[in-house]
Amino acid sequence: MIKYYEKEQLFKIDTPDSSYVMAVADGFLGHVYYGKRLSDYNIGYLLRTEDSPFVPSVNRRDRVSFLDAFPMEYSFGGTGDFRETCMDVINGNGQKNTELIYDSHVIYKGKKALEGLPSTWGEDCDSLDIVLKDAANDLEVTLTYSAFEGIDAVIKSVKVKNCGAHPVTLEKVMSTSIDVEDTGFEIMTMHGSWARENHIQRRDVGYGTCFVDSRRGISSHQNHPFMALVGKNADQKQGEVYAYNFIYSGSFICSAEKSQFAHIRMVMGIHPADFSWTLEPGDTFQAPEAVVVYSSEGIGCMTRTLHDLYRKHLIRSVWKDRERPVLINNWEATYFDFNIDKLLQIVKEAAANKIEMFVLDDGWFGHRDSDNSSLGDWFVDKRKLPDGLEKLSEEVKKSGMKFGLWFEPEMISEDSELYKAHPDWVIATEGKEPALAREQLVLDFSRQEVVDYLFDRMSEIIETAKLDYIKWDMNRPLTDLGSKMLPANRQGELMHRYMLGVYSLQERITSAFPELFLENCSSGGGRFDAGMLYYSPQIWCSDDTDAIERLVIQEGTLMLYPSSAMGAHVSICPNHTTGRTVPFATRANVAEAGTFGYELDITKLDDEEKAQIPKQIENHKKYYEVTAYGDYYRLASYRENGKYDAYMMVSKDKKKAYLTYVQVQAVPNSKRRRIKLDGLDAEKRYRIGDMLYAGDTLMYAGLLMPDLYGDAASVILEITEEV
Ligand code: GLA
Repeated sequence: MIKYYEKEQLFKIDTPDSSYVMAVADGFLGHVYYGKRLSDYNIGYLLRTEDSPFVPSVNRRDRVSFLDAFPMEYSFGGTGDFRETCMDVINGNGQKNTELIYDSHVIYKGKKALEGLPSTWGEDCDSLDIVLKDAANDLEVTLTYSAFEGIDAVIKSVKVKNCGAHPVTLEKVMSTSIDVEDTGFEIMTMHGSWARENHIQRRDVGYGTCFVDSRRGISSHQNHPFMALVGKNADQKQGEVYAYNFIYSGSFICSAEKSQFAHIRMVMGIHPADFSWTLEPGDTFQAPEAVVVYSSEGIGCMTRTLHDLYRKHLIRSVWKDRERPVLINNWEATYFDFNIDKLLQIVKEAAANKIEMFVLDDGWFGHRDSDNSSLGDWFVDKRKLPDGLEKLSEEVKKSGMKFGLWFEPEMISEDSELYKAHPDWVIATEGKEPALAREQLVLDFSRQEVVDYLFDRMSEIIETAKLDYIKWDMNRPLTDLGSKMLPANRQGELMHRYMLGVYSLQERITSAFPELFLENCSSGGGRFDAGMLYYSPQIWCSDDTDAIERLVIQEGTLMLYPSSAMGAHVSICPNHTTGRTVPFATRANVAEAGTFGYELDITKLDDEEKAQIPKQIENHKKYYEVTAYGDYYRLASYRENGKYDAYMMVSKDKKKAYLTYVQVQAVPNSKRRRIKLDGLDAEKRYRIGDMLYAGDTLMYAGLLMPDLYGDAASVILEITEEV
């Protein structure tokens, strides 16, 4: 619910458990409060301008002191606020100065889509547009806030319009800012690398600025577009949390600055380092959406808010609420070394073991026998598939399975026909050879003709090969930022225009083929973000398929994103990335936390392992109802304790739950571990195996874990309400 109090010029956005309050003071829009939900009675005093000796209208000589301390809702630089700015603008004289003054607002039902960008959607929502004006630069800045019914999140975005007669250049347009008094916070972020995505990190705030960012043109393995201020005492169940997550897949920055008065200003948006945008008279610029969550009940509550928001109001595909086919992918089975006979052996064995979709990964096009060539040549390699994709697809479907295919549409190899025909289509700067990564270059997706070409190629293959699924990969960062098409003063727009091009192609493909199931990927989880979720209901979360490494990666991923979005496969051991051997059952139990599948040569499994597959799939289908739609509770973290991991998925009605327990390291001569469950109904009775328990006992006193033998042993326990 969103209210405006005319007398105090105060805006109040209420979600079930939080209030977000802003007010106008002396023309400036101030951030008054964000936190646990407040009643409406007398809250205007919180902005505390009347006791300030510096209010500009009564004290012109100390305007700078005012601006440097005022909790600006959307800060601007050059006039006296020396903290992190939200917006920097260069005017026609090459000067940088902005002053944003409240102009008007409108409150409305529902929510507008963001042109060309992913955004949350849904009618059961209230929105507020606040218009600020910059008189000197003739700019209109619209801050948009939306709150969905029943969800403790505020969705924010920003639009800038040039209302003047001269062009201006935006050098920075952040999507969100909040100002919180430091009552003892830490910063929580996620860092990583290839095969080590989403490791959770906490650190002190301290005076000065902490930030995480990506300048790679993808949201990145290295830093996730997420930051939270968490109370020092905050854990899964208690403490305050203020969290940001960005609905964007390109370069970003998120910073938290603790200023002289111990306030923390946290801002998030497109990274200004490789960004500038020229606005001609009448033009607008739309900055992406950011999700802001407040939880008074710890990190677990933040997680469940994000899961509900993304499942109900971000993911759009028809596959959103459909049971996903259990797939088998040939990457770790064959890499580039396959032919039709090999693939058909895998297909036959997979179908016989109840696997539902076959995905042909990299290496089916051009003459791609390694990762050195052929990207861009999306024509089948007849040496490997003499009768084309059509024949393979026909055979796969005859076996009762669906058929999926790998693409890396944004890339081009120097060794390709496409590069010979269009060397100017790559991203490169004048007079310098662009740097290769994985022997490949990046196509200039800011160019319409490039996007059109890819749309035509991919559409033809989707139709002729009757594709049910596409794995859309992206395997290198952007460098050498130059576009042949953009004029000199617009080269700074390339990074963002590239992202808009990628989004537009995903939008066109998914609209033209609504039944197509799209899974995004970027060398594993390099672009696992909320922006991508808008187009694909599922994202491959890491190339690291080692079940033990996955415990850490999946803990981080599931902290923000629902299990129905997290691609997780059972692979072969010794694991190709770590060389570690983990029992087959544990590999499956860990993959059950996400969208389940296999990535191995099923023809080489021994009979004992193969025999487990149909049962694992049957279990997956049983778990799916709960894992896909229920609530996630983290009980114990191997990342923290180094010995074991435990989490639960609980149905919304609390009638059914699954608890996964992994004993990473066996401890000799130890007592059975007792773990406190969560998310159950304290009043209900539950059955686990042959035993009956009270919900309160399971949660407050705990359950004894089964006595497992060996390292990496695991179990999934079914917990059912007893009526
Ligand atoms: C990336 C992906 C892998 C696989 C390879 C193919 O690394 O993350 O899953 O598709 O590319 O080259």
